[in-house]
Amino acid sequence: MIHPTNKDEKKGVLIVFEGTDGTGKSTQQKLLADYLNSLGHQVVTTREPTDGPFGQKIRNLYVNRGNYTAEDELSLFLNDRREHVETLLTPALNEGKIILCDRYFLSTVAYQGAIGFDIEDLLQRNSFAPDPDIALLFQAPLETGRHRITSGRGDTLNDFEKSESLVRVAEIFRSINRSYIQPVDATGSIEEVHQRVVSLVLPLLSGLPGPSLAQE
Ligand code: TYD
Repeated sequence: MIHPTNKDEKKGVLIVFEGTDGTGKSTQQKLLADYLNSLGHQVVTTREPTDGPFGQKIRNLYVNRGNYTAEDELSLFLNDRREHVETLLTPALNEGKIILCDRYFLSTVAYQGAIGFDIEDLLQRNSFAPDPDIALLFQAPLETGRHRITSGRGDTLNDFEKSESLVRVAEIFRSINRSYIQPVDATGSIEEVHQRVVSLVLPLLSGLPGPSLAQE
C-alpha cells in the first residue's frame, strides 16, 4: 500500500521512528533495517538531527540549550530538515527506496511544542516535509527511558533528555492526531518490540519490488 502524495511522485516508503528519549528507537531502526535487507529490500537508514551542518550545530544545543532562543532552536531543526528532505529523503523516495528515519517532524512538534510553540503552527511550518507512511511512536515510561540512557548507554542526560518538559513532550506525542501514527509498546524485550514493529511495517511493503528481485 503506497500512497502517492500531492507533493511529489513518491514511489518509496517513509517509515519514521518517534518517541521520547531512551525508548529504543535507534536499536529498533537497526533491527528493522537488517530484517528488511535480509528480505531483499533496498533500505536507507537516516536520522534527525542529521550529520549535516545544521545537525552539527544542533548537537551544540545538547549541552547548552539555554544559549539559544526558542526561535533559533526551532529554525535549526527546520533548516536541518529542509536540507534532509531535499538532498536525501525526496530523491530516495522517488527511487522507490524504503527509508527508516530516526526522528522526523513529529519530534519538532513534541519537543518544540513543549517549550511553548503552538502545535498546529509547528505542523504547518513542517508542511514542506513529506508525510511519513507510518510514524512508529515508541511509548515507554519516562523513567524507563532515563534508566536506559544512564545505565544502559552509560551516558549522562543531555539538555533535552533531562528537561522537565519531557512529560509535556510525551503528552504532545500522544495527542497528535494523524492517521499515520502507530503507537508501539516499547516495554519488554528488544525482540518483542521488534516483532511489534515488523507486524506494523510489513503490510506497507506489499507491492514493492524487493524480495523477488533480490533472488534473481
Ligand atoms: P536524538 O535522536 O536523541 O539524537 P542523538 O542520536 O544524537 O542522541 O535527538 C536529540 C534530541 O533532539 C532529542 O532529545 C530530541 C531533540 N529534537 C528536537 O527537540 N526537535 C527535533 O525536531 C528533533 C529531530 C529532535
